[in-house]
Amino acid sequence: MTTTQEAVTAAERCIAEFRRDPHPVYAHLRDAAPVCPMKPPHGNETYLITRYEDARAALSDPRLSKDMYGAMDAYRRIFGDSSVALDDNMLNSDAPKHTRLRRLVNSAFTPRRVEALRPRIEEVVQSLLDACPTREPFDLLPAFAFPLPITVICDLLGVPPEDRSRLQQLSTTVAQTGFGEEFKRAQQKAEEDLHAFFTDLIAAKRAHPGDDMLSALTAVRDNDGGLTENELVSTAFLLMFAGHKTTAYLIGNAVHHLLTHPVQLRAVRERPELIRAAVEELVRYDGSVESATFRYATEDVEYNGTRIPKGALVQIALSSANRDPRKFTAPDELDVMRPGNAQDAHLGFGHGSHYCLGAPLARMETQLAITRLFDRFPGMALADPGGGPRWLEVPFPAFRGLAELPVVLEPAG
Ligand code: HEM
Repeated sequence: MTTTQEAVTAAERCIAEFRRDPHPVYAHLRDAAPVCPMKPPHGNETYLITRYEDARAALSDPRLSKDMYGAMDAYRRIFGDSSVALDDNMLNSDAPKHTRLRRLVNSAFTPRRVEALRPRIEEVVQSLLDACPTREPFDLLPAFAFPLPITVICDLLGVPPEDRSRLQQLSTTVAQTGFGEEFKRAQQKAEEDLHAFFTDLIAAKRAHPGDDMLSALTAVRDNDGGLTENELVSTAFLLMFAGHKTTAYLIGNAVHHLLTHPVQLRAVRERPELIRAAVEELVRYDGSVESATFRYATEDVEYNGTRIPKGALVQIALSSANRDPRKFTAPDELDVMRPGNAQDAHLGFGHGSHYCLGAPLARMETQLAITRLFDRFPGMALADPGGGPRWLEVPFPAFRGLAELPVVLEPAG
């Protein structure tokens, strides 16, 4: 008979295996159960969508709502009460509220406005690379991949430098997935602290406005009532939260895959104009957001012959859709010269009205990070090439990313 400990060990092994490489499971699901009923630990009836065409349709299906106030019971069961205040933002709303909140910040993230940030991003990249040790192993994630996007988004929002590491710690706690009372209490405390942090920061911007996005949004709130105080706090939180770990993990995944695919790396280094296409391919191949945020069915809907009942949650596996052979030829191969891999071919930044607002910024940061890193350290290598990567291992991670990326940098020349 199997003991509880043996069962737990076996389950942990399965989870570790899935984290290491989720694609065999996704491939099986796409063929055998493309709209798969699941029983996640929160107990809410949930359906997992894994094929590209279904995923793309579901991401823009108005019958699949993002308004968590409509799904309040399910939402509370999963996230508890306190996150509601922080989540009063565009990602958790449908039109017309979604349209109103998104329009307020959209203009700051157009490709043209983002292009204006290029010199500052270059400067941050170079100063982080200046500080990296050479000829000895170190972890590239905390030294480079994480500080780059957090610095850029905090600059943009106007978060003072002395507050940034605390902000990063709090958002790490909020990002963790888990269950149980102790876990919920710690997460609730971090959410309350984040709420208080942004409330105080907004008060400071009111008193002393700066040339930053939070000052601009505070002025919109005060002058024409374009958003409520709570929406303002939650929008600031969303931009900070969505804007840093996503990009940090993508940079880590991208560097890892380029180092383990030397032919692809050589192509990018020899033809710098390939960097845009290469980043799209890296997002498709192993993007940092494995599944979209959950949606819930406001009525019975049918996908691929499976009925999703009203009230059920829907999880859309972007990583699976991006490897669907019905859409991509040889999907399990990394090919930076893949024909037709335009920005909107993959679903790594989502699709439809909730399409990633920060995609132009994320693209620029990742393109610059990779280009400058390999320009400056062409002899860079994994510190332990035989050791295999260590992926984040929580059972239902919001992110697909590495737990560490030990490398050795050899300076050029
Ligand atoms: C590689 C980096 C990134 C990836 C892979 C990514 C991915 C995504 C995805 C998949 C969604 C849609 C979620 C859904 O429909 O459930 C999304 C939404 C969003 N992202 Fe990103 N993101 C990245 C970087 C950023 C950055 C840098 C920012 C901001 C500065 C940002 C801000 C947002 C916002 C505000 C939304 C919500 C949009 C809405 O609801 O209309 N993201 N992102």
